[in-house]
Amino acid sequence: MSKWKKYILWFAHEHIEFRFAEMDSLLAMFNFEMRYVEQDNTAPYWIVECDSESNLKKLVSRSVLVRSCIELWAHSKDTQSLHNQLKNYPKHLMDPFFRPDLSFKIEVETFCRHFTQKEKIDKVESFSYLPVKGPVRLKDPDVCLQYIEYYGVRANDPPKLPYDVFFGRWVASGLRQLIQKLSLKTRKFIGNTSMDPQLSLLMANQAKVKSGDIVLDPFVGSGSLLVAAAQFGGYVVGGDIDYLMLHARTRPSRIRQKERATDESIKANMEQYNLQHRYLDVLINDFSCSFWRDRVEFDSIITDPPYGIREATEKVGTNKENFTVSEKHLPTHIPAKVEYSIANIYKDLLQFSAKHLKLGGRLVCWFPVFREDYSDEGLPSHSCLQLVANSEQVLSKVTSRRLLTFEKIRHPTLEEAQDESEITDFRKKYFVVREETRKERRTREAKLRYENWIKSGKNINNL
Ligand SMILES: C[S@@+](CC[C@H](N)C(=O)[O-])C[C@H]1O[C@@H](n2cnc3c(N)ncnc32)[C@H](O)[C@@H]1O
Repeated sequence: MSKWKKYILWFAHEHIEFRFAEMDSLLAMFNFEMRYVEQDNTAPYWIVECDSESNLKKLVSRSVLVRSCIELWAHSKDTQSLHNQLKNYPKHLMDPFFRPDLSFKIEVETFCRHFTQKEKIDKVESFSYLPVKGPVRLKDPDVCLQYIEYYGVRANDPPKLPYDVFFGRWVASGLRQLIQKLSLKTRKFIGNTSMDPQLSLLMANQAKVKSGDIVLDPFVGSGSLLVAAAQFGGYVVGGDIDYLMLHARTRPSRIRQKERATDESIKANMEQYNLQHRYLDVLINDFSCSFWRDRVEFDSIITDPPYGIREATEKVGTNKENFTVSEKHLPTHIPAKVEYSIANIYKDLLQFSAKHLKLGGRLVCWFPVFREDYSDEGLPSHSCLQLVANSEQVLSKVTSRRLLTFEKIRHPTLEEAQDESEITDFRKKYFVVREETRKERRTREAKLRYENWIKSGKNINNL
């Protein structure tokens, strides 16, 4: 008979909106049930129930937002009743962890209130009645017991006594260390719009990337999303219209860097993290005229399309009528570009995904919105793709972006492949609100470059 036990999931107190989306994706990926007992998004923890600790371990070890998971032995509003609960905790449930051959330690964590080492030791000693038998080991013990005092989230004004106290056994930790390892600060090649590792890993989790998957980012930029997908075992491939970006020949993104190193590239990033065996390639490609064969299928598509604010939304084309290039000029012809509206980018992205995702495969993409105008009806949609998650990241008072996760539920018919959905053109709206014309934007950007140049005391050719 399966036994449901209580656990506490302790989250990092950021990207709160994304918790459900990440947990649901991981539950779907590992295919098990977890019951939600208590979750209040103002607090950094959830209390859940699960009947398989090994499944829960898998989930937590893949989570970006969970810091740690503890099997809950006691939970109360005050310390006295916590101790009473713990003294009454069934002996047969504790015994397997209190064997003489198992080392242990008791760790004290206080959320939003600082205590001295001495005060912490006093708190540890208040648990001296526990029938532990093994030796104490502070580094890598076999069993780690945790006592947590939760003082709310207002660090400047914590209450005298904790709101909640918890005691339990550490089960697993999330991927917070990986976020440090993949930090953009130390990454070889980055661009102006490189996605930070936390959100990149979160996207790969929502896409349910697993070992052996083939993952595409059609707006790949500096390849941050490929790094995250490869980290979880995906074979990664990307496309981007920008030749200079894919050849790492754009202006350096780090303030103090004068010029790009000759060996900067997405491949070099993969090598930096020992993921080169997961790297398929990146291709210079205008997404509006995709070259993939009809039968090519991806396990997932994760991408951050351009919003037209920090980079242009352009595609190959011309506004001239009946434009042709003579034979003579063909070899040196550089195609002109026209605007690629946000509406068309997402229409193409969803149609492409409906066609090229395998059944059950996921598209995870950011979608910019003008907050005041936001409505679910304005989101891009396709009848073959089911929206399974939609979380907001606020960018400013006026704008935000939403992380949309779609799952392919069936293959498109011919008509569905031509489906057209009307969505608000975010870029137009954004610039209208800020009353900034294209010319003004160019002037502002030129001014910014000039200011940076003055600051760096560089050569005028760098302007
Ligand atoms: C927001 S950036 C992606 C950043 C990327 N996630 C990273 O971490 O570096 C969007 C990218 O889309 C590319 N892009 C713009 N228009 C495109 C098009 N028509 N086809 C393919 N890529 C395009 C831009 O060159 C830019 O690199």
